[in-house]
Amino acid sequence: MPDIRPYRPADRDQVARICLLTAAGGGDATGVYSDDTLMPEVFALPYVDYAPELAFVVADGERVLGYVIGVADTAAFVEWWRREWSPGFAARHPSPGAPTGRNPAFTEAELVEAGTSPERMLIDELGDYPAHLHIDLLPELQGQGFGRRLIDTLRAALAARGVPAVHLGMDAANTGARAFYDRLGFHELPSSTLRSPLLGIATDAPSAAGSTDLRS
Ligand SMILES: CC(C)(COP(=O)(O)OP(=O)(O)OC[C@H]1O[C@@H](n2cnc3c(N)ncnc32)[C@H](O)[C@@H]1OP(=O)(O)O)[C@@H](O)C(=O)NCCC(=O)NCCS
Repeated sequence: MPDIRPYRPADRDQVARICLLTAAGGGDATGVYSDDTLMPEVFALPYVDYAPELAFVVADGERVLGYVIGVADTAAFVEWWRREWSPGFAARHPSPGAPTGRNPAFTEAELVEAGTSPERMLIDELGDYPAHLHIDLLPELQGQGFGRRLIDTLRAALAARGVPAVHLGMDAANTGARAFYDRLGFHELPSSTLRSPLLGIATDAPSAAGSTDLRS
């Protein structure tokens, strides 16, 4: 039976693969970009390298089927990214290649730019919502309550570290994910836009309908 456990360094490649398999509006992004490592190098691997203690996976034996990853202090993460992640990323991806497919959320050029522009994460609401997260489950694991449990696990870990609230950015086209976040009690932040929804939730409440958040 799959279950939630803390991330281990040996999970790194599987986390990268799940990121790729869910990166096109929730679906498979394999072959969409000229290099399949681009998505995980922007949206998964820096997180598990920087804050492995805030990464949790759903695993069935050695097989990883889903994850939630996060950072407690986005501003500190941006500093680390500039110093530790950008140089290697720039060396591995000096310029955008020719994409072979299409992902409306990010062009190849935007993705390559994102790899060395962590400042994009410095949203206006960081004072109240310093943490942020990403969550991805393989299709076979979806719809069984693991997404909710993973979010609850990360919220509890953040609350235990004294972090009051967490935010996330998402692809507006990913309507399934939006329904999930709405169901868990996430709300839109002031700088959210139609094209780039930005959602937040307090860390200390269970993710039931009607859960408390910073507005209540
Ligand atoms: C979005 C995702 C994380 C949700 O995880 P999940 O395990 O499938 O969701 P759960 O089974 O925990 O569902 C929790 C609640 O959300 C609701 N929900 C989940 N997906 C939904 C959907 N597509 N439409 C409507 N409601 C949905 C469930 O009905 C459930 O409600 P309940 O607990 O009150 O019964 C997962 O489907 C996923 O990884 N999708 C692909 C990658 C992705 O889109 N990641 C997010 C990028 S921003």
